[in-house]
Amino acid sequence: MERRTIGAAALEVGAIGLGCMPMSWGYTASQRSGEGSLGALHAALDRGCSLLDTADMYGPFTNELLVGRALKARRQDAFVSTKCGLLAGDQHIVANGRPGYIKRACDASLRRLQTDRIDLYQLHRADPEVPIEETWGAMAELVAAGKVRSLGLCAVGARAVRPPRAARTELRAAGVRGRPRSRMHDGTLRQLERVQQVFPVSSVQAELSVWSPEALEELLPWCESRGVGFLAAMPLGNGYLTGTLTPGQGFEPEDIRARHPRFTAEMMAANQPVVAGLRRVGARHGATPGQVALAWVLAQGRHVVPIPGTKKERWAAQNAKAADLALTQEDLREIAVLPPARGSWY
Ligand SMILES: NC(=O)c1ccc[n+]([C@@H]2O[C@H](COP(=O)([O-])OP(=O)(O)OC[C@H]3O[C@@H](n4cnc5c(N)ncnc54)[C@H](OP(=O)(O)O)[C@@H]3O)[C@@H](O)[C@H]2O)c1
Repeated sequence: MERRTIGAAALEVGAIGLGCMPMSWGYTASQRSGEGSLGALHAALDRGCSLLDTADMYGPFTNELLVGRALKARRQDAFVSTKCGLLAGDQHIVANGRPGYIKRACDASLRRLQTDRIDLYQLHRADPEVPIEETWGAMAELVAAGKVRSLGLCAVGARAVRPPRAARTELRAAGVRGRPRSRMHDGTLRQLERVQQVFPVSSVQAELSVWSPEALEELLPWCESRGVGFLAAMPLGNGYLTGTLTPGQGFEPEDIRARHPRFTAEMMAANQPVVAGLRRVGARHGATPGQVALAWVLAQGRHVVPIPGTKKERWAAQNAKAADLALTQEDLREIAVLPPARGSWY
């Protein structure tokens, strides 16, 4: 598989990684299976998808334990990327960026992952109660202590709040030129500039897919101009872009899609033209819509690494093959004019 370089520390990873979240968190619980997920982890590593993205919050904790089991006999094949600073309680998700906590969290992650070094340690969410420089400073000390090789920041949920289309037309009519600035990403960019003063950022993780392209506006260019890697979360649109979901199908209550406005029966039906477009492009290459969606993410820059999530061996293998799919300019133009996704999020 093609290799890509992540950020300041110039660490090499396979062009496509593996998101481990669906194995333990966020998706249909009744389909979770530890043993089955091990198959997905090995299938990904066997094909060069070295970057395994996990978090202490997934499970909580069980996802790191699972990744640790897979790593045991083949640590050298993997690039371990985990996260800290976000805790899942029974009712709420809370951020904790206190330096002492971050250091304890790292030791606990190392134990669960059965390794002595985390390749990429990411701040899952900034804690509004703690200056981000303090949190990042503690993470930098973990690099100095040899427990972590590089640092990243997650900006998931920092969805660009773009004015709706109608408002954009109005803004243009009023003489406002250029792309509307994305308020939430502005916050992320400020955070990034602040932590860069403390210790170099190696990667930013945020949502990027054919139906959520907002990061292309500012976040991706910011990363590219500073040699920072970009990990594209939810590159398959939480599974929708694979074309395997049926409008109107239900989701179990703990599945994030049960509350996601794009997964109501109405919006799943309304967004079918996006999948149809990916299918059309895929037909020219003998590829699935999901593989086209991943190849589109790969085409956004050499600093971008999609991390599709799956708990299934066959899907991990299918997703890895997207690295061989080179979309043409014609393909990219066809995808660029697909209708924007309907249904807001965040
Ligand atoms: N930093 C953050 O706050 C944050 C937030 C969200 C995600 N992430 C990271 O980003 C990763 C990717 O995001 P995600 O997993 O939420 O969304 P995603 O990759 O867009 O989609 C995952 C969904 O797609 C399905 N799927 C995967 N490959 C498929 C294929 N070839 N055919 C059909 N369906 C397929 C999976 O099904 P199965 O589960 O049944 O395999 C799962 O339901 C996560 O795993 C996590 O590591 C980070």
